[in-house]
Amino acid sequence: MPFDALDTWLTDLERRLDPVAQFEHFLSLELGRAATADEWQRQAILSDVPGGATAMRICRQAGKSCVLATRGVMALERGEVTICLAPAERQTREITRKVATYLRGTTMTVERSTMTEIETNTGGRFIAVPASGATIRGFTADQLLVDECAYLTNDEEVITAVLPMLKDGGQVFYASTPAGKNNFFARLFLDTKPSDALRLLTVRGTQIPRMAAKVERLRTQLSQTKFRQEVECEFIADGQAYFDLSVIEAATSKTEAAIVPKF
Ligand SMILES: Nc1ncnc2c1ncn2[C@@H]1O[C@H](COP(=O)(O)OP(=O)(O)O)[C@@H](O)[C@H]1O
Ligand SMILES: [Mg+2]
Repeated sequence: MPFDALDTWLTDLERRLDPVAQFEHFLSLELGRAATADEWQRQAILSDVPGGATAMRICRQAGKSCVLATRGVMALERGEVTICLAPAERQTREITRKVATYLRGTTMTVERSTMTEIETNTGGRFIAVPASGATIRGFTADQLLVDECAYLTNDEEVITAVLPMLKDGGQVFYASTPAGKNNFFARLFLDTKPSDALRLLTVRGTQIPRMAAKVERLRTQLSQTKFRQEVECEFIADGQAYFDLSVIEAATSKTEAAIVPKF
């Protein structure tokens, strides 16, 4: 093996042995500069719950899809099949594009690809499926990723349709920013006790130092309710209440307190 090829081979080996280093390499490809994984990203990348799930309840724009795409690439390296559910077609294309970008930072080659599916020379497959109108049948998967889980329509039905396709010992990774209390994702955090089979990670935007400036901007741009949901990751009552809290908030005058009291 010529020395240059050995160097590439060793770098690739190092990244495979250290998935967090590989994740940081992928981020640098995307950002065009070096980046360091947050602690929650490190935990999610290394999370190993065979036959169980890891659920990430994280602030908007914090890097959830980056973590899921990296888990997708890690599975491709093992020659495994990943099904990735996302709310709509657009998100399935976005995450597939991320996986394709990250693949350029590995020694794998793409054998076949579409906007929502990638097959590599390792025999691995990454298949992204929109939950809306999904026809997910006939697959057997080693891993299931669910991006923006709280925003899936028919979440309960779609997820229960896909879970049986998972092989014994396969893992599920749910990622989302909360969107109300009345959905599958919220129930994972509110109704389920963390156990050996379910690992729950919660990170508010205010806990991520690199996002401080963005968080302060959102504090001034978003309504209080939206900020609590999108940045502070709170599960706030939604459809179950007669009026959504954000609707009440939007309809509440900041100046005419005597006419419409501010909640
Ligand atoms: N640890 C990190 N350091 C710096 N930038 C990051 C980090 N993690 C993710 N990013 C960047 O943040 C942006 C949003 O990432 P994305 O995964 O789309 O967020 P989310 O899915 O949580 O909304 C991307 O440009 C990504 O490169
Ligand atoms: Mg995302």
